[in-house]
Amino acid sequence: MRSLMDRCCSRCTHSPQTPCKDYVLCRRDGPFCHDDPECKRRRKAWLNSRFPPPGSGQRRLLVCGGLTCGAAGSFSLPEAFRKAIEKAGLEEQVTVTLVGCLGLCEEGPLALVMPERVLYCRLKLEDVAAIVEEHFKGGKPVERLLFRDDTGKTYPFLPEIPFYRKQQRVVLERCGYINPEDIAEYIAAGGYRALTSVLFSLSPEEVIEEIKKSGLRGRGGAGFPTGKKWEAARRVPSSKRYVICNADEGDPGAFMDRALLEGDPHAVIEGMIICGYAIGSDEGYVYVRAEYPLAVKRLRIAIEQAYAAGLLGENILGSGFSFHLHINEGAGAFVCGESTALMASIEGNRGIPRIKVPRSTEKGLFGKPTVLNNVETFANVPLIILRGSQWFANIGTKGSKGTKIFALSGKVKHTGLVEVPMGTTLKELIFDIGGGIKGGKRFKALQIGGPSGGCIPEDMLDLPIDYESLTGAGAMMGSGSIVVMDEDNCMVNTARFFLNFTERESCGKCTPCREGTKQMLNILERITRGEGSPSDLSLLEFLGQVVKATSFCGLGTSAPNPVLTTLRFFRSEYLQHVTERRCSAGECMALRRFVILAEKCIGCGACAYVCPVKAIKGEKKKPHHIDEKVCVKCGRCFEICRFQAVKRL
Ligand code: SF4
Ligand code: SF4
Ligand code: FES
Repeated sequence: MRSLMDRCCSRCTHSPQTPCKDYVLCRRDGPFCHDDPECKRRRKAWLNSRFPPPGSGQRRLLVCGGLTCGAAGSFSLPEAFRKAIEKAGLEEQVTVTLVGCLGLCEEGPLALVMPERVLYCRLKLEDVAAIVEEHFKGGKPVERLLFRDDTGKTYPFLPEIPFYRKQQRVVLERCGYINPEDIAEYIAAGGYRALTSVLFSLSPEEVIEEIKKSGLRGRGGAGFPTGKKWEAARRVPSSKRYVICNADEGDPGAFMDRALLEGDPHAVIEGMIICGYAIGSDEGYVYVRAEYPLAVKRLRIAIEQAYAAGLLGENILGSGFSFHLHINEGAGAFVCGESTALMASIEGNRGIPRIKVPRSTEKGLFGKPTVLNNVETFANVPLIILRGSQWFANIGTKGSKGTKIFALSGKVKHTGLVEVPMGTTLKELIFDIGGGIKGGKRFKALQIGGPSGGCIPEDMLDLPIDYESLTGAGAMMGSGSIVVMDEDNCMVNTARFFLNFTERESCGKCTPCREGTKQMLNILERITRGEGSPSDLSLLEFLGQVVKATSFCGLGTSAPNPVLTTLRFFRSEYLQHVTERRCSAGECMALRRFVILAEKCIGCGACAYVCPVKAIKGEKKKPHHIDEKVCVKCGRCFEICRFQAVKRL
């Protein structure tokens, strides 16, 4: 038996044309239709090779094949490991597999040794031989390649690493642990069991009830209750309904959906099929960013394998229920993440939003009732069915149930993919899991929810992560990107950066969004050039409120959020720009000034050497000085001086 998907013998009759309802459970625990110890033994042997039990003498090396590790060189590691393992004569004991993102992207390329769960970081091709010799042959992990904290302490085992300790990885449970290009591994890890149980033991109404009871809310934006959405679509009389997965993840800093699709695509597919059964739909679309080629490739493979196994297509597992799934690669516009624009794009039209009456659940794709949820929402569905709505409802807070995946990036020490229960505070996320701020700098703010989200200051870090708390702070959950900023980030420039993004991405349909964001951006650019005035702040606030109140779709109604939250929480920085013509963070080039403190300067000449315009003069071993008329404010002197003698004003 080369794959768990192969027939154990001729008595197994399952195929898409001759479906067997026990197929999914039978793969792992069967055979059920005949009693043959040899068939059972062969299945067990396959399972043990993929999921080696402790003490079996078998090992599996999981090499992270997520995009970040891949870009750092992980794609060439499996082949190098296989060769070295073969050379050492260990091919019977150690297998190597490329998996999805393991989470701790900052330390990549990563590789995890199972079953002991030893994690190796920052791997290079040169490290392969040492791991094979010392660990696989000698039985001792290679110390220098283990995760190391600031104090120099090493952590051999993944669950002990602080980054993972406070997380609750349920949606990401399989991500990084199974081969995303092999449906057999998904099934072996419990996949498609939820679908089987739905098809043969629950009515569509019972499925919807279960999702409603769980309290699952959409993970893509505003957090609309998922069960209610499904119920609304089912109630509309129609012979055709659609299911859409929104995988058009466009926020700068967001990579949750990409990682899930790259690491566990079948979880999303299974969630979509269950949704189709619940609402009475036989067709679905995954609208995925074309800029995610690896995610698209793995999704395509997963869909093909699901069809070949009879888990997609006609008469799934002999239940009488049919579901077909298509991939629609995105058109590259941020606004296509908006539900009505997304549907217009699938229909072959220009992706612009339409008014939401009637709702998509009544009249959506091709005018038919449609449920649109995002990647993470669908990936939660099989878990809820398998473990029960009560299990899910017990995680999180009163109004926000379950866990949430975040893409943690910016100035935090450990960037990567994180999953925490709702209710976890922002402080826990940044400091306990993310390890705090890089380079001993001071935390300044975090931006949550992408370009439409808000900036949260230090004194609000005890805020629990839930839909209502974040909205109350002027931010939003969004799809889950968190960008951490330190003392070197200028909040005016941050607001300008995000508004620059939304202004460019405005589809132009409505005037407040098209013109309002443009005017706001002009003002912010003026301020960062040092040409702003105090009255600009109230004008920004006024425009922001108008754009929010009168724009047509979510892009416009949330675009001013970064500006309004920075004005609310970091007003003094704006005032510094417009009254003192100063940017203390030093990000606004036009407002930067550098001086040399004579009392600290030892006259080493390093700054004069690196200055590209020779603006620094001084005799050796005597204090130097900067000619501000010549200085182009590049900051190279500030970076090079080891005596903190160059001051940024
Ligand atoms: S690098 Fe620092 S200490 Fe050396 S000359 Fe420049 S300012 Fe003075
Ligand atoms: S900021 Fe750049 S241009 Fe100005 S003095 Fe320093 S190195 Fe020279
Ligand atoms: S891509 Fe490897 S850990 Fe995220």
